[in-house]
Amino acid sequence: AALHLHDIGIVTMDWLVRNVTYRPHCHICFTTKGIVQFRFAHLTPHTSEECRKWILLEDYRRRVQNVTEFDDSLLRNFTLVTPHPEVIYTNQNAVWSKFKAIFSTISGLIRYAPVFRDYVFQSMQEFYEDNVLYMEIRARLLPVYELSGERHDVQWSVKTYQEVAEKFVETHPEFIGIKIIYSDDRSKDVTVIAESIRTAMELRTKFPTVVAGFDLVGHEDTGHSLHYYDKALMIPAKDGVKLPYFFHAGETDWQGTSIDKNILDALMLNTTRIGHGFALSKHPALRAYSQKKDIPIEVCPISNQVLKLVSDLRNHPAATLMAIGHPVVISSDDPAIFGAKGLSYDFYEVFMGIGGMKADLRTLKQLAINSIKYSSLLEIEKNTFMAVWKKRWDKFIADVTE
Ligand SMILES: *[C@@H]1O[C@H](CO)[C@@H](O)[C@H](O)[C@H]1NC(C)=O
Ligand SMILES: *[C@@H]1O[C@H](CO)[C@@H](O)[C@H](O)[C@H]1NC(C)=O
Ligand SMILES: *[C@@H]1O[C@H](CO)[C@@H](O)[C@H](O)[C@H]1NC(C)=O
Ligand SMILES: *[C@@H]1O[C@H](CO)[C@@H](O)[C@H](O)[C@H]1NC(C)=O
Ligand SMILES: [Zn+2]
Repeated sequence: AALHLHDIGIVTMDWLVRNVTYRPHCHICFTTKGIVQFRFAHLTPHTSEECRKWILLEDYRRRVQNVTEFDDSLLRNFTLVTPHPEVIYTNQNAVWSKFKAIFSTISGLIRYAPVFRDYVFQSMQEFYEDNVLYMEIRARLLPVYELSGERHDVQWSVKTYQEVAEKFVETHPEFIGIKIIYSDDRSKDVTVIAESIRTAMELRTKFPTVVAGFDLVGHEDTGHSLHYYDKALMIPAKDGVKLPYFFHAGETDWQGTSIDKNILDALMLNTTRIGHGFALSKHPALRAYSQKKDIPIEVCPISNQVLKLVSDLRNHPAATLMAIGHPVVISSDDPAIFGAKGLSYDFYEVFMGIGGMKADLRTLKQLAINSIKYSSLLEIEKNTFMAVWKKRWDKFIADVTE
């Protein structure tokens, strides 16, 4: 299972460029800020201060000299991949700035209703091909739109996730399904987040099998601390409603900042898992607490490397945590934006870099088991899943020994 993924960072960008941008009614805009935007529409979309002119992509492609070159440049703009990252991305803010620009660019493509359905399906397809049978997706649930400009609400999006997943399960034997962790941006005001918390509570009541809980996402160092949101985050407890939290916390290499304390607040707010928890090993009391309470960290090694928290993965703090038996699950965060795919690359990095020379089949086995154990499935569902996994593992071992 992949337990730490983000809605629009999953499907390889090649598919967006070669499939989605070739669909009819796709418009492109080169904004004054240098960030490319897309919009599907019957008529030319409205212009704005930033976007002075929308061009039908079909027409634009007819005018460019070399379409292959243009498509390649789109693809380059859709990932963080670059031959000399250390030169281009001089610090964390520089790489995060491009990271955020990519989300902004591809959002207009993915939020078009027919694409959105296909994107969700394709997300499962790529992970299924990588032998992943279950996914938990942090989803912003931004408005999905139609050609007419009509916009759907959050409930529509959750229902669509549910319907597409059900359809996928029908045609893909042994696939368990997906769950959504509704997420908002940690740059927002506390009043906005309070509203999102209420929305999360509503969604969880309406779609208890789909919506697992709530998280805050975005660049942690430049965002608000969890403490800043305390009033909003206490709403469910005050109302006596259960809303599980899955906080990103400690995705920082600073020590002693208000952000560094997010792990403490995440644990005090009963977080189910800790997203990244990169800073956890610097806080022995918290580390002992999370270990005692069996609260795992979600380690995304490639993400941490690309976003410049650690360069050589042998130095990843999860090595220490794995050595003392702290619960860990491995995930891939936004593989498409890092130029990766599915989950295997991150397992590989953990095995080779973080695990060290003593990592062996038992390491892989435990990490696979953890991905099921620490999911937010019901016990009975976990048992079914574990049985399916066990059968596949035994076959894998038989094949390897042979
Ligand atoms: C795009 O993908 C969809 C399925 O997701 C497929 O039906 C369609 O034929 C593809 N279109 C192109 C232009 O590749
Ligand atoms: C178009 O660009 C590609 C990639 O840069 C190159 O391989 C190809 O030769 C170019 N085609 C033409 C007709 O110039
Ligand atoms: C790629 O991004 C740059 C800015 O980084 C922009 O100037 C350029 O127009 C973009 N090109 C395409 C094809 O998206
Ligand atoms: C965390 O769990 C404790 C014990 O079950 C409970 O008293 C408290 O209200 C919970 N806090 C939140 C924010 O949910
Ligand atoms: Zn994340």
